[in-house]
Amino acid sequence: MGRLYYRGYPIYDLTEFSTFDEVAYLIWFGKLPNRKELQDLKEKFVEERKISDSITDYLRKVRKDANPMDVLRTAVSQIGLEDTRPGDIREKAISLASKIPIIISYFSRLRDGKDIVEPDPSLSHVENFLYMLNGNKPSQVESRTMDVTMILHIDHEMNASTFACLVVASTLSDLYSSVVAGISALKGPLHGGANAEALKQFMEIGSKENVTDYIMKRLENGQRIMGFGHRIYKTYDPRARILKDYAKKITEERGNKELFAIAEKVDEIGCKILGKKGIYPNVDFYAGIVLYSLGFNPDLFPTVFASSRVVGWTAHVMEYLKDNKLIRPKAIYRGEIGRKYIDLDSRE
Ligand code: ACO
Repeated sequence: MGRLYYRGYPIYDLTEFSTFDEVAYLIWFGKLPNRKELQDLKEKFVEERKISDSITDYLRKVRKDANPMDVLRTAVSQIGLEDTRPGDIREKAISLASKIPIIISYFSRLRDGKDIVEPDPSLSHVENFLYMLNGNKPSQVESRTMDVTMILHIDHEMNASTFACLVVASTLSDLYSSVVAGISALKGPLHGGANAEALKQFMEIGSKENVTDYIMKRLENGQRIMGFGHRIYKTYDPRARILKDYAKKITEERGNKELFAIAEKVDEIGCKILGKKGIYPNVDFYAGIVLYSLGFNPDLFPTVFASSRVVGWTAHVMEYLKDNKLIRPKAIYRGEIGRKYIDLDSRE
C-alpha cells in the first residue's frame, strides 16, 4: 500500500482528523497548531480575502475563453507587482493562498455572465471557496469533500512545479515570481491536467457495461488509461484510495452515481490488467469526478490544484532559502567541439 506523510504525519490521519487550515499550518510552520494558533491563521485567511480593483477589473476584461491557468498566473504576477510591503515571506504566502480562490471564482463566474460573490468571513477557507464559486453555501458533504481534496493536493515532495519554484527562489528572486513559475509548470498536461482527462474518459465510456471494451481497445491501440500510473508510486496511490470514498459520497449527493460506478469499474479492471506492471490509480483518477461534482468546470481543475499546492510551494521555498544555494544543473554537451567558422555568404 502506498504511503504519504506530511511533516511526518500519515496522510490517512490528516485527512481523517484534520482540516485544510490545520494542515496548511502544519506545512508552513512544521507543527500542528494549537487552538489559538489555528484561530490566528483562520483570521489571517479572512483578513487577506480580498483582491485589488485593478485585478477584479482584469478578471472582468480578460478573454472568456482564456486558459484559467494563464489567467491565474497573470493575476498572481499582478498581486506581486502591487505588493510593495517589505513583510515576512510567510505572511505573504498566507495572503496569496487566501487570494487564489477569489481569482478562480471571480473568473469562473464572470466568464459565465454571473455576478461575483463577495467572500463570507463566517466561512472556512474551503467553504468560502465553494460559496464564491457556486453562489450558495456548501453542504456538509461538499465542504468535507473539498477539505480532503485540498489537503491531498497540498504537497508532494520534489514534483515538477515545486522544483520550478525552487529554481526561481534560489536566484533570490521574490516569492510571487516563484509561485508564477510553479503555476506555469503545473499548467502542463503531464502534471496538472490528468484529472480532467480521467473525467473525460469516464464520460466517454458512458456506462458501466462499456468499461471492459473501452479499456481493451485503448490498450490494444497503445493508449493509456488516464488517472493510472505514477512516476514514484508503483502501488495504489494513497491519495486515490482516500478520494475514492469521497467521490462515492459526493456523487451520491449530487446525483452522479453512474459516473462513480464507471470509475469504480475502470479501477477494478485496470488494476487487474495493469497492476502486474505496478500501474494503479493515481490521485487524478477520482479527483476529476470529485471536483466536477463540487461545481468546478474541468478547465478549472488545475487552478484548484494550484490553490492548494501553493501552500507546499511556498513552504518549500521558505525551507530552501534558510540555506540557499543557486540551483544550476550541469548539462553535458554531446556535439562536435572546435567547429570551423564559415562566413554567412559561404554557408550552404
Ligand atoms: N495506462 C496504460 N499503460 C501505462 C500507463 C497507463 N496510464 N502508464 C504507464 N503505462 C505503461 C507504459 O505503456 C509502459 O509500458 P511498456 O513498459 O510495456 O512500454 C510502462 O507502463 C511504463 O510507462 P512509463 O511512461 O515509462 O512510466 P512512467 O512512470 O514514466 O509514467 C506517467 C508515469 C507519466 C504518470 C504514466 O503512468 C501516464 O502517462 N499516466 C497517465 C496520465 C496520468 O494519469 N498522469 C497523472 C500522474 S499523477 C500526477 O501528476 C499528480
